[in-house]
Amino acid sequence: MTRRVPSSIPGLDEMIEGGFIENDVILLTGPPGAGKSTFGIQYLYKGVTEYNEPGVYVTLEESPARIMRNMWRHGWDLERAVKENKLRIIRSNPILYSKYIKEKQKTLSTTAEVATIEHLLKEIYSNIKEIGAKRLFIDSLTSLKISSDPVSVRHVILEFIRNVENMDCTTLITSEIQQHNANFNVEEYLCEGVIKMHVFRVSGNRNRAIEILKMRGVKHKETIHPYNIVDDGIVVYPSESVIGDECDTTDFISF
Ligand SMILES: Nc1ncnc2c1ncn2[C@@H]1O[C@H](COP(=O)(O)OP(=O)(O)OP(=O)(O)O)[C@@H](O)[C@H]1O
Ligand SMILES: [Mg+2]
Repeated sequence: MTRRVPSSIPGLDEMIEGGFIENDVILLTGPPGAGKSTFGIQYLYKGVTEYNEPGVYVTLEESPARIMRNMWRHGWDLERAVKENKLRIIRSNPILYSKYIKEKQKTLSTTAEVATIEHLLKEIYSNIKEIGAKRLFIDSLTSLKISSDPVSVRHVILEFIRNVENMDCTTLITSEIQQHNANFNVEEYLCEGVIKMHVFRVSGNRNRAIEILKMRGVKHKETIHPYNIVDDGIVVYPSESVIGDECDTTDFISF
């Protein structure tokens, strides 16, 4: 029997037979402001505080200081978890690094990108081993798509996910996939599971709903259910259903 890792998101485990399958890599997609980072940090922080499972957070976009400040809003003391060596935060900026290497070596972009990602993977792995991490959160994969060549992007993402799969951690990775994009991205095929966060509108009010697009080896719910971001973090309501038309978050900007 494979061990299940509680998601630490109230209500979600009911949708996936009790939790993630240990050491799986799960993709979390959704539009800006859907709550992807909150979801992942909740997963790590509750892992530390409720299950005594150390975690590694890889931030490719926001600065650790900003994340720590924003997460205080939910009462999560990330700084303390870091001081206690239960949490590691790795900050990386592949775009800047790639540019630096390109200028230095005057090489083709693919070589530079792979070098960058190799370096990042080594850093992730050594941090996992140093604190005995069981949970890993990478935010976001979109930042690694630094080439204009789709074949190169595919190669980089494939290599990255293949490597992360072998790090003995149950992993969440975010990706900013467009809600209305009919084409699937390579990461959606590669990951064991895909959780989709939707933002839509009913009678002028912003609503949020979550869907398990796939979860290999799991008899998961195929229906879509509301979730909310509250002071305690993300909460899913698996016994409630959703009615309404999905729309882009850009629609909200005009409000
Ligand atoms: N205490 C709170 N109560 C309700 N909603 C909150 C609270 N704190 C934050 N939020 C909501 O959470 C959103 C931010 O969530 P988060 O940063 O996790 O989203 P994201 O999907 O990672 O976005 P991005 O794609 O921009 O990185 C805010 O825009 C706000 O709507
Ligand atoms: Mg985010």
